[in-house]
Amino acid sequence: MNKTLKLYRKPIKIAIFLLALLPWVFMWIAAVQESLGPDPAKALSHISGEWALRFLVLTLAITPIRLISQSAEWIHYRRMLGLFAFFYAVNHLIIYCLFLLALQWQELWADIVERPFITVGFLALLILLPLAITSTKNWQRKLGRNWARLHKLIYIAVALVLLHFIWQARSDLTEPLVYTAVVIVLMLFRLSKIKKLLSRRTA
Ligand code: HEM
Repeated sequence: MNKTLKLYRKPIKIAIFLLALLPWVFMWIAAVQESLGPDPAKALSHISGEWALRFLVLTLAITPIRLISQSAEWIHYRRMLGLFAFFYAVNHLIIYCLFLLALQWQELWADIVERPFITVGFLALLILLPLAITSTKNWQRKLGRNWARLHKLIYIAVALVLLHFIWQARSDLTEPLVYTAVVIVLMLFRLSKIKKLLSRRTA
């Protein structure tokens, strides 16, 4: 099973790359065709923000999938998923600056300082930046043990993003709470007791 997966690693990576790019392509096609509804800027912000979060969740899902399947193969796809989370988050920020703030830079700073949900979103993006930069094999080698320590910051980033999501949802909290529940379940797999239980299952 592992050998077959290894054989198909490259085509699988290409397929994931193309699939991950699809929402971005559809989003901009819809924008050009003016089919995003009455508030296109809001729709673009919504789509990009939600896809950024979805890719963060998928990145966090790799460890549980690896534990359940007892296959390390999945690790090879984690970097790409994390980079797509960052890609959509950067798009989200660009959309915010271009269409919601109309490039009023002083307003961006005022928003970051004065609107708490923007502050936490901005902090999350600031955390994702060094993680994206140091995601290469080269940086992994250079940083050694500190690489894993640094990349644990993803937990703080995802917590901030969930807070950002909950904060901006004025009335209906269903969606952000569903994402929060999914993240909590994914985090439970990191508990050593659960890890041991899963490894005993296949021993
Ligand atoms: C500088 C950083 C950020 C800014 C300025 C920002 C701005 C915004 C704004 C203005 C909204 C509300 C849109 C609306 O009114 O419907 C929003 C929603 C959202 N943002 Fe961000 N955001 C930032 C960072 C992030 C990051 C890093 C993520 C995820 C990785 C993220 C994910 C989301 C999600 C999931 C929503 C809710 C989408 C929806 O259902 O409408 N944001 N953000």
